[in-house]
Amino acid sequence: MFKINYSNIMQDIIGKNGLIANDFNNIDDGKIYKIILNRQYPELAFLDLPEQNTSEIKEIGKIARQFDNFLLLGIGGSALGPRSILESLSPFHNLHKKPKVFIYDNVDPMTLKAILEIIDLKKTFINVISKSGSTAETAVSFMILWQRLKDLGLSHDKHMVITTDPQKGNLRKIVSDYNLKSLPIHPDVVGRYSVLSPVGLLTAEVIGIDSDDLLRGAKEIGQRCKIARLWDNPAIFISSALYLLQVLRNRDITVMLPYSDRLKSFSEWFCQLWAESLGKQGRGLMPYPSVGTTDQHSQLQAWIEGLEKYVVIFISVDDYKADFEIPHIFNNIDGMSYLSGHSLSELIKTEQEATEIALSKKGKPSININIPRIDAYYLGQLFHFFSITTAMTGFLYDVNPFDQPGVEEGKDLTYGMMGKKGYEAKREEFLNYRKNKDKYII
Ligand code: PA5
Repeated sequence: MFKINYSNIMQDIIGKNGLIANDFNNIDDGKIYKIILNRQYPELAFLDLPEQNTSEIKEIGKIARQFDNFLLLGIGGSALGPRSILESLSPFHNLHKKPKVFIYDNVDPMTLKAILEIIDLKKTFINVISKSGSTAETAVSFMILWQRLKDLGLSHDKHMVITTDPQKGNLRKIVSDYNLKSLPIHPDVVGRYSVLSPVGLLTAEVIGIDSDDLLRGAKEIGQRCKIARLWDNPAIFISSALYLLQVLRNRDITVMLPYSDRLKSFSEWFCQLWAESLGKQGRGLMPYPSVGTTDQHSQLQAWIEGLEKYVVIFISVDDYKADFEIPHIFNNIDGMSYLSGHSLSELIKTEQEATEIALSKKGKPSININIPRIDAYYLGQLFHFFSITTAMTGFLYDVNPFDQPGVEEGKDLTYGMMGKKGYEAKREEFLNYRKNKDKYII
């Protein structure tokens, strides 16, 4: 089980920017437990993901592993989770393992060109992921790849699996029209909460990770997050702490700072979850992705002496499962020889703690989540923990953590310009904007 140390958000440790135990009396945690217990939002179905049967995913994983390449097409929640699983559990994967994994989660033509130059489609298995089946970016990459397979005379069924809603949407229709392989995403599980569904688990299987290990970790933390007592339930506690630090101390920005390159894309996964779930109705918290020690030489200055806005969440790791002793050389240079005899893991851990102390001394709040090691079990815990924490934080802000109304306008304008039926007025609006947009130019 991972450990959470919250000393550095408490007033007796960091001074006036911190919280006191009584501040937590402002939290109506009973309301949150009730929302969850009554499943007031059907989207809370993600809580059940650790219980799922993975046999179908394993079957498809076995098929995919026979190919040289695995190409994932998806965006947002349909890509960030798989990428985090890939980069956390199999770093530098493509340099030494097969199938090589490519995640195309944009519509940048140069990226697609580069991928198609590297991979041989005859030896490629494609996973198209879209819960809604209507996301334009995924639809176009799917259409392009569909045509490419066809032009090469390759069978779509043999080279593709579609991960989508079990009943609805364009992709589900294509699955049944063309009798394709498919994996279902539970109808009530929304994109950014879907990493522990077939969305992320198939990538895990493809890279040789037992998806059940991710689910075991998730299940364990899920049990702890069911406890109906704020001080014993890590998810409601962290949600409440971050919420209180904002409403009482103006700390608007949540910095995700894992001390491991392997968790860099986890940081990005978290950012989508946090931003898209909480940023609503003029409320919420803003996430900031980072990685230690790298960002000590990039962002730390601002966290320590800049705006009084940040709360840093450290993720520290006990065992990196690799180490290097620093050699006894350059003994005549004091500025280097003091490092000799120590190890890389000692240095990264020391720097993590030193940063924690530096923030604390300046009265800047931080929380430390410590994991014993980075493996499927603990990654599963992190995914599930932050998914639950995000939903709970949304309930504290009284916003729906499962929708994203703010992103619809841009989508509708794009539909209009690209000629989708029913969006003619949006097209007009778009064209009018273009007429006037050069009014102020320098
Ligand atoms: O969290 C969400 O629901 C979104 O970020 C989606 O993941 C993203 O828009 C992609 O949607 P879809 O999987 O329907 O293509």
